Amino acid sequence: MKQMIKLNNDRYRLGYHVSALAGWINDPNGFCYYKGYYHIFYQYHPYSADWGPMHWGHARSKDLVHWESLPIALAPDTKADEDGCFSGSAIVKDDVLYLIYTGHHYYDDGDPDHFWQNQNLAYSTDGINFTKYENNPIIASAPEDNTHHFRDPKVWEKDGKYYMILGSQGKDGVGRAITYRSDDLKDWQYLGVIAKANGLTTEGFMWECPDFFELAGKDILLLSPQGIEAQGQKYLNLFQTGYFVGNFDYSTNTFEHGGFTELDHGHDFYATQTTLAPDGRRLVFGWMDMWESEFPEKADGWAGALTLPRELELKDDQLYMRPVKEAVQLRTAEISVWNKQVTEKTLLCENEHQAEIDLILTTDQAFELAFTDQDKQVKLTFDQATHTFTLLNGDARYASIKPNSELKLQIFIDTSSLEIFINDGEAVFTERFYFDNAPQVWLTAKAQCLTQVYRLDGQAITFE
Ligand code: FRU
Repeated sequence: MKQMIKLNNDRYRLGYHVSALAGWINDPNGFCYYKGYYHIFYQYHPYSADWGPMHWGHARSKDLVHWESLPIALAPDTKADEDGCFSGSAIVKDDVLYLIYTGHHYYDDGDPDHFWQNQNLAYSTDGINFTKYENNPIIASAPEDNTHHFRDPKVWEKDGKYYMILGSQGKDGVGRAITYRSDDLKDWQYLGVIAKANGLTTEGFMWECPDFFELAGKDILLLSPQGIEAQGQKYLNLFQTGYFVGNFDYSTNTFEHGGFTELDHGHDFYATQTTLAPDGRRLVFGWMDMWESEFPEKADGWAGALTLPRELELKDDQLYMRPVKEAVQLRTAEISVWNKQVTEKTLLCENEHQAEIDLILTTDQAFELAFTDQDKQVKLTFDQATHTFTLLNGDARYASIKPNSELKLQIFIDTSSLEIFINDGEAVFTERFYFDNAPQVWLTAKAQCLTQVYRLDGQAITFE
């Protein structure tokens, strides 16, 4: 029997973000609402703090912010998924919860780039125990003009039919998204390519984790392309997550759309997945990390976490992303509330591992926020002239906003993460950071400043 890895140090454990107690996690999967609970699954390797044969870890919540960890939902234990249950999605049909996921398969030559992928189905009636469909795979192989990159099915329903979008690479080496249609989730018919990269270095060689949904009368393709090259202040991470806004014609399978826009400006945001909440909100989770980053928590027996769940809104063809409104339920104490003119360096918060800092700054000057721990720091500066935020966490990331003399910042600190929402989600920075003590948070500004600081629940996720 293989031994699951165990946590050996909790110094960087997150208090209110979904993670596994031990082991490696990456992409959020199967985000859905089923029988009174939100469910989130994630790519999970329980046997080490490194990526390995993928399982689906699982947690559920009644309010989107207090999570209960559940047993592993899928393990790579059938012929159809022998080397990994890769990313996928969930859908509820006739009161049954279905998971649709990619089966990963290596050829026998030991080359990790020599693999093939298929699509599979599993189902549950209690939202906890899953049975794999006996006739898996539901899609046995990629279309003729596709390479071996054929994964991450996201399924949705439209007018009584089911649609699946998949991340793919054409034989021309270009990233693209392809779709299938089904009446019953079991038999799928290939429809074709709905969008593809306009160039390898501009839009990528492989599109991972596509998601397709309607918002404010538009159709949105949200995806995580690999291969986009840095361009000035844009696309500075190894891989990107962003979106196209357009209009989809179901009768012709064509998607007319605008250009690619990054969704988050931080170092640690990838492989998003959305769901439609019962009240009509479009919710999104991301992986709060990036491939090939350092993961200091690996030394402690775990690696990776999901972001706070967020709500998406479309304004002037731009996606705004802010924490779900339920995040107020994480507040356990009010630490301070004040409204005054600040003229010098001011301490906003100290010794809090889990905190929310809400600021409304009225100013026509530059300002700076610093998260410090003796010799380490993460810094956010705002330049009024260019209305650009610069976030320094190691190297710099940037976000420009529309000119505005009133700036609203909502900052969520957890033991090893920082999420900064600017102007109700106009720009967002998502970061992991590894301080050995709780940070002090300093504001240096000449501004009228309304400040609210709250302590947040440090045990919002419970493990079996
Ligand atoms: C994205 C991704 C997916 C794949 C999964 C494997 O981060 O590469 O394309 O399904 O991770 O864990």
